[in-house]
Amino acid sequence: MLVPMRAILEAADKYRYGQAAFNMNSVGQIEAAVHIHELLRSGAVLQGAEASNAFMGGELDFMHGSAPAKRVGAKNIGDAVKKYGGSSKVPVALHLDHGKSLEMVKACIDGGYTSVMIDGSSLPYEQNVELTREVVKYAHPYGVTVEGELGVLAGVEDHVFSATSTYTNPMQAVDFFKKTGCDALAISYGTCHGANKGKDTRIRREIAIATKECMMHEGIQGFLVSHGSSTVPQEYVQQINAMGGRLENAFGIDVQQLVDVAKAGINKINVDTDIRLACTRNIMELYRDHPELKNSPSIGRLYSDLTANPKNFDPRNYVGSIMDMIMYGRVADEDLERINDCMKDGVIESIAPLLVQFGSYRKSHLIEAVTCDQMADRYKKEGI
Ligand code: G3H
Ligand code: 13P
Ligand code: ZN
Repeated sequence: MLVPMRAILEAADKYRYGQAAFNMNSVGQIEAAVHIHELLRSGAVLQGAEASNAFMGGELDFMHGSAPAKRVGAKNIGDAVKKYGGSSKVPVALHLDHGKSLEMVKACIDGGYTSVMIDGSSLPYEQNVELTREVVKYAHPYGVTVEGELGVLAGVEDHVFSATSTYTNPMQAVDFFKKTGCDALAISYGTCHGANKGKDTRIRREIAIATKECMMHEGIQGFLVSHGSSTVPQEYVQQINAMGGRLENAFGIDVQQLVDVAKAGINKINVDTDIRLACTRNIMELYRDHPELKNSPSIGRLYSDLTANPKNFDPRNYVGSIMDMIMYGRVADEDLERINDCMKDGVIESIAPLLVQFGSYRKSHLIEAVTCDQMADRYKKEGI
């Protein structure tokens, strides 16, 4: 069933395991993601970023997607999550990742999202508070969970608690929860987005511990989120490069550090890059092992788009010729089915170990089966 993300994070917090959240960029990926969460009996948090919503609305220049395309994409993603997750035996939440405006939040809630992030982290503090508060006011009456962000996910900073630090200040995090009423907060503590996180990145676990501790003292039941948490498995990188890719300096977060922070108070762990890498590796292998597919009427163009930029590993940049399958899951022939399978297998291979390692494996029964309407009543009673 579909639930607000809050229900899933409440269980993760209570039983101290990490709930991974995965970015989705095709109907096939959504189908595969729900399936593997069901097999492993884990709650699922699937997410669509602003760019994914634009892309799933048919906008190939997805980094500059228009509002109408994002609205269409939010509905396409919402429909797919309902189709595969609506009657699934594990709770599934659909979450907007890095939403930038109330308009985007509204489009996603209309499309069936049960949770939204409003990322005001680049704004001055008071404006971030204001925007997040406005989103909470809008979303909570729908029972929809809200995640905010505080601190900038940037490079390596040693002076953790200094005024110049870009890391999250634990006391400001408490103030942010109090002023906004948000449910979850993305903190900056050493991770960053993408495949180039730096070799031997050390997560500042103490920031998560201090933040959680301060929250407990103030009676705040909120959740902490780790963004930029892909592990960038080195075999993926080596395999891609051995087939003609040119990924340089690609390193992720050591999985043991993520396991440790999950025990120390991080509740949600965001992963996107690992999925992109696995899907791209699988698709490259498909053409390597079946060179005749390079001339396929339905997926020949995909091959030339794939090889146009050896540094690219984001499938969205090379699947523009098969958007009917990507956006609606219509698989018109066997060649398309092979691409779909590559993407589904990529999702499963990258997701499954993380569900086990972060500890949400076999925990779905601990999550309260609560609908958004019921959560809305709860917020109303508690006045938040
Ligand atoms: O947090 C960022 C995610 O990796 C989403 O990336 O905006 O390119 O879809 P995207
Ligand atoms: P990665 O780039 O490390 O996968 O981060 C994903 C993320 O934080 C999505 O919000
Ligand atoms: Zn992120």
